[in-house]
Amino acid sequence: MSAPVALVTGGASGIGFAIVRALVDDGYRVVVCGRSDDRLRHARALVPSLDTVRCDVTDELEVGALMGHVAARYGRLDLLVNNAGLQDNYRFAEVAAIADRARSEIELDLVAPVVVTHAALPLLRQSTNARVVMVGSGTAWVPKPDALVYSASKAALRSVTTGLRWELAPEGIGVVELVPPVVDTAMTAGRDDDKVAPELVADALVSGLRRDRERIAVGTMRWVPILGRLAPGVLERTLRAGVDAGRDVR
Ligand SMILES: NC(=O)c1ccc[n+]([C@@H]2O[C@H](COP(=O)([O-])OP(=O)(O)OC[C@H]3O[C@@H](n4cnc5c(N)ncnc54)[C@H](OP(=O)(O)O)[C@@H]3O)[C@@H](O)[C@H]2O)c1
Repeated sequence: MSAPVALVTGGASGIGFAIVRALVDDGYRVVVCGRSDDRLRHARALVPSLDTVRCDVTDELEVGALMGHVAARYGRLDLLVNNAGLQDNYRFAEVAAIADRARSEIELDLVAPVVVTHAALPLLRQSTNARVVMVGSGTAWVPKPDALVYSASKAALRSVTTGLRWELAPEGIGVVELVPPVVDTAMTAGRDDDKVAPELVADALVSGLRRDRERIAVGTMRWVPILGRLAPGVLERTLRAGVDAGRDVR
């Protein structure tokens, strides 16, 4: 059987690129998309086997062309990692205008994974072991004060992830939730919270996929889903105390 095929959105840098490397090491043929040609070129220089496609995942036509590329070259998709994301940090009461900023975050953090997954379905159906990974966040359980729309988008994405898991199970397509802690990437530049390396998240994902896990919560995030179910008040107080003390773990 030929090597499995993975598509990682926003996979030319940050957590996405670490996931790409881990998947290549695990034997996948990997397609990566992103908006910046320079970033894609750089990723290919580091991992020459990468198949890179310039694609803004908030643009439906570009997403269609991306899937056309995967269909023509591979004929199927075994793993889709919806990783591209944006966290716009601001205090709600302090910004002059909010509409465009809110829309941009919702478009990328919520609508894009929905649209990309929908567009990928015909290719996922060609696989005998198809999985979709949604990259979530601890902010889905308790909102981060300087990232309210991001938190809300991730909370909604969590709901989509659960519902889609039920909807696609009869077709044998798995839907996996990945919950990273604070990771050292461009997204968290300027934060002095404890950060883990992107490779830690990537290794947890690959090993969780091998064990057929539905949710892969990494590091400090392991407790969040459990507390969120059993003791949501404790979780909220704990995370709020961290924020008040200037140490957020999400
Ligand atoms: N870092 C953390 O602490 C953390 C914690 C929990 C969850 N997460 C989640 O993990 C994911 C990755 O985060 P990260 O920290 O690696 O972010 P990052 O360093 O900012 O990287 C984001 C990647 O997404 C790409 N991207 C952005 N907009 C895109 C678009 N419209 N279309 C296609 N690609 C796009 C970027 O490349 P281009 O600009 O070239 O397009 C870049 O490669 C996100 O979903 C984030 O919410 C991160």
